[in-house]
Amino acid sequence: MKVIRVNSYEEMSRRAADIIAAQINKKPDSVLGLATGSTPEGTYAELVSDYEKGKVDFSLVRTVNLDEYEGLSPESPQSYRYFMNKRLFEHINIDPDNTHIPGGLSDEAEECKRYEELISSLGGIDLQLLGLGHNGHIGFNEPAQEFARHTHPVELTESTIEANSRLFQSREEMPRRAVTMGIGTIMQAKQILLIVSGGDKKEALRRTLCGPIRPDFPASVLQLHRDVTVIADEAALSKDTTLSQDIAF
Ligand code: F6R
Repeated sequence: MKVIRVNSYEEMSRRAADIIAAQINKKPDSVLGLATGSTPEGTYAELVSDYEKGKVDFSLVRTVNLDEYEGLSPESPQSYRYFMNKRLFEHINIDPDNTHIPGGLSDEAEECKRYEELISSLGGIDLQLLGLGHNGHIGFNEPAQEFARHTHPVELTESTIEANSRLFQSREEMPRRAVTMGIGTIMQAKQILLIVSGGDKKEALRRTLCGPIRPDFPASVLQLHRDVTVIADEAALSKDTTLSQDIAF
């Protein structure tokens, strides 16, 4: 893993956008795996700014998002489709038909199969952007007894409901289920970019980088991928974690 230590959320966002823009400039029809949540918001804002300055062209880019809540329509302001439209897609020259997010209203099993086949038909993911859950989840792959291979439905854990209910009117309104790419799907991405910010993610990041590789802390599996870049701010990187600027496993 390559770890890039930065001073702030803003610097993390800028560095992440640089890596994504470089990928698109190298391969204009790249397949980008995208995440939602608070962490990538700044990265998307930087990419919009790059687009406005003519530094990056999304016309051939294809995207596949990690996950979606069950039961939310694309028009629901809490859905991940809505988040992506508002934060990124509506501000760049991407073809909406090239943006893919699991459907929250479809039959679970059929939707998981369709999504997995879709990713294969696109030739797999060139660059997967990830955020990190406090409980080690990536996408909505919650702590479990086994690493889930493919796109699958999940029951969200209390920790995730606690963390994400801030975005809903009330805790009760937050969906209890979601559809997520599997750990296997994520691990097949050619390149992975993990962005982490804030002191509340410190322990989760330490376990991701240095902890044992176990399905009850899903992000630990990233230690086995051969091309992972982690961009983390000072607050998220604990001083006692043995890290140099770059560590290669
Ligand atoms: C969402 C996703 C999640 C988030 C994680 C961190 O698409 O993949 O794994 O990345 O829950 O969320 P934030 O960034 O809000 O702390």
